[in-house]
Amino acid sequence: MLRWPVRPDIDLRLPEERDADELLAVIEDNRERLEEWLHWAHSTHTREDVLKFVQMARRDFQKPDGLHLLIVHQGRIIGGSGFVVFNELSNYGEIGYWIATEFSGNGIVTDCCRALINYAFCEMQLNRVQIRCATANARSAAIARRLGFLHEGTLRQTIRTNNRLDDEHCFGLLRSEWAKAKAAAG
Ligand SMILES: CC(C)(COP(=O)(O)OP(=O)(O)OC[C@H]1O[C@@H](n2cnc3c(N)ncnc32)[C@H](O)[C@@H]1OP(=O)(O)O)[C@@H](O)C(=O)NCCC(=O)NCCS
Repeated sequence: MLRWPVRPDIDLRLPEERDADELLAVIEDNRERLEEWLHWAHSTHTREDVLKFVQMARRDFQKPDGLHLLIVHQGRIIGGSGFVVFNELSNYGEIGYWIATEFSGNGIVTDCCRALINYAFCEMQLNRVQIRCATANARSAAIARRLGFLHEGTLRQTIRTNNRLDDEHCFGLLRSEWAKAKAAAG
């Protein structure tokens, strides 16, 4: 099983086919909130839809085209996080995330992002990590700011959420900035 420990109670791990029912149940329990911000939630309704996601995650991991991981709390699936994009030519990745409402507000996603950023800069030797989110998604933007990403600009009408086109924040973090921040933190 491919897993990345984040903190004693939290792992990130690659999804497997046997996760399909559990993952679908978490998506159903959080559907309203997920559909507000994540377009994939609108097209994920059945076990087959989730299996397609699992197969894509495993295919993307091999290439690598992306890194789609589950957030797992003491063995239980509570969300997802990873790299929705790797741009090989320009050497950057883009992080995405979601978490079940009952686990929100504990810094779990922030800690998962920290682990992903370390992996991107130290293992994959990426030069840049970015986070994009709808300007109305304050909780998502707060994660980027908390992690020291620079707000680089606002893209106009680039994200479709709830069937309307919204503006998006673009946050970026360079490997040199991350190394400097880590050194300063000791
Ligand atoms: C966006 C989303 C992932 C944010 O989740 P979150 O729970 O706010 O994020 P974190 O796990 O990092 O938790 C941050 C909160 O924990 C608190 N916290 C507690 N301990 C913490 C710690 N050690 N480190 C950081 N934050 C901590 C923070 O103060 C913050 O609290 P707040 O709720 O008062 O602002 C979540 O709202 C979600 O799943 N939304 C739906 C899907 C979505 O929008 N995805 C993103 C699309 S771009």
